Amino acid sequence: MKRRKSPHILFATSEIAPWVKTGGLGDVAAALPPALARAGCDLRVLVPCYPALARAFPEARERVRIPGLALRLPECRVLDAGEIAAGVTLWLLDCPSRFEREGNPYTEASGEAWNDNVWRFGMLSRVAAWLCENGGATGWPVDVLHCNDWHTALAPAYLHYLNGETPSVLTVHNLAFHGQFPESCIGDLGLPRRAFRFDGIEFHGKLSFLKAGLQLCDRITTVSPNYAREMQTEAYGCGLDGLLRYRRNRLTGILNGIDEEEWNPATDPLIDTRYTIDTLDQKAANTRALRAELGLDTDTTPVLGVVSRMVHQKGTDLLIEEGDSLVQMGAQLAIIGSGEKPLEAGLRALAARHPGRVSVTVGYDERLAHQIEAGADIFLMPSRFEPCGLNQMYSLRYGTPPIVRRTGGLADTVVDANEATLAHGSANGFAFDHASGEALLACVRRAMTLFRDPVRWRQLQKNGMRGQFSWKHAAAHYRTLYESLMPSVR
Ligand code: ADP
Ligand code: GLC
Repeated sequence: MKRRKSPHILFATSEIAPWVKTGGLGDVAAALPPALARAGCDLRVLVPCYPALARAFPEARERVRIPGLALRLPECRVLDAGEIAAGVTLWLLDCPSRFEREGNPYTEASGEAWNDNVWRFGMLSRVAAWLCENGGATGWPVDVLHCNDWHTALAPAYLHYLNGETPSVLTVHNLAFHGQFPESCIGDLGLPRRAFRFDGIEFHGKLSFLKAGLQLCDRITTVSPNYAREMQTEAYGCGLDGLLRYRRNRLTGILNGIDEEEWNPATDPLIDTRYTIDTLDQKAANTRALRAELGLDTDTTPVLGVVSRMVHQKGTDLLIEEGDSLVQMGAQLAIIGSGEKPLEAGLRALAARHPGRVSVTVGYDERLAHQIEAGADIFLMPSRFEPCGLNQMYSLRYGTPPIVRRTGGLADTVVDANEATLAHGSANGFAFDHASGEALLACVRRAMTLFRDPVRWRQLQKNGMRGQFSWKHAAAHYRTLYESLMPSVR
């Protein structure tokens, strides 16, 4: 068998920006495939045909019709929506009864998970595996299947138990979501009973999509080298650390990149005034515009920016706990995000106590996210765990030094400013270790002290702006990984 010059990679994902995005997975699914294509791969991105995608691609044509594959997996179609970037074609899984739903792809408007998610993402996984094994029907044989998070993590199990031969890679973006369902679902998903065992799809008496994928895929990746280490520890492993240690020879951490066109202060159409490393003085206009937009007082103290899901993972509770103290220290806060209702309420109450000093926008707004990256003086990301994190890289690019907890990808991208790193020229932000309010406050205090030293601050900003965060490096790494799984030229 001769090996194809451009490996055929089927990239299966439950979200893709800008059409359907709840977080970083959507960004990665939009930016990594084009980078892989530039690295010489040929890509098909498989994503459910949610209404936003049906509207965006009304011309999408049927590529293949797939018969019902199990009791709860009805007949469906894969539509070809055409090339969305050079070398990247979008395939939409069309099954209206499962995916024709507006809003968040995982939850109802109330925030409750859809009660048929097991069939919805079982179907996405099953179809991904089916496409691998039916290259004849699609006219596009698959060399490697690349799955992402629990929503597509059952695909390696289908390949394994239904005698599929395509190698698979599973990337973990978030280990906290497992996709766990009752054992009784197995038959209706079209999996054999014998799959329900500790070295199969079983996890503490339940069927777990993520566990299945981690156990049965050929290679596991996650989105930073540091998180690849952390996830093997009890503290970060979400119960899966034992399995991850067992499979550590198959586990690699590959740092995400960022979309350097979308997140570029020199060309960003969403910000007030564009700037570069050589015109950094212009950044102040964005700070003025941000204050005006959010009703923050005119002042010379720093604006601390936050763009984040409001959840325990992101340390939102620490911001609520220390918000009053941050204001007493003289900081202003510009926050946007959404998530758990009690955390949203806690931040709203903080803003209500400090008019003109704290602004909290509950919701999702790309424009404001860009304006905060450009207009804030300092970016805050006190995450409890963070597989990679994209916002700290955006903020580095915008000359907005980040304050982060030293974990996951944050530890891989942010170099704490101290005498040594400042002298060396590597410092680009601030990092603290303990997920506590005191540690956060102490770190902000350090940052605010340096902020009052304009020469050194400018240096810190420039160090961050010089950072290399393109997808090129990651894409080359993934390509090597794919090739290691493909049969060599015979
Ligand atoms: P995660 O995927 O864990 O939420 P990341 O830092 O990897 O964290 O990615 C989050 C992405 O979602 C970034 O592109 C960020 O700008 C965006 N984002 C998060 N919350 C909001 C919001 N409320 N409005 C606009 N963009 C947001
Ligand atoms: C997840 C992680 C985040 C990562 C993103 C993209 O949502 O929480 O750290 O950057 O996926 O890989």
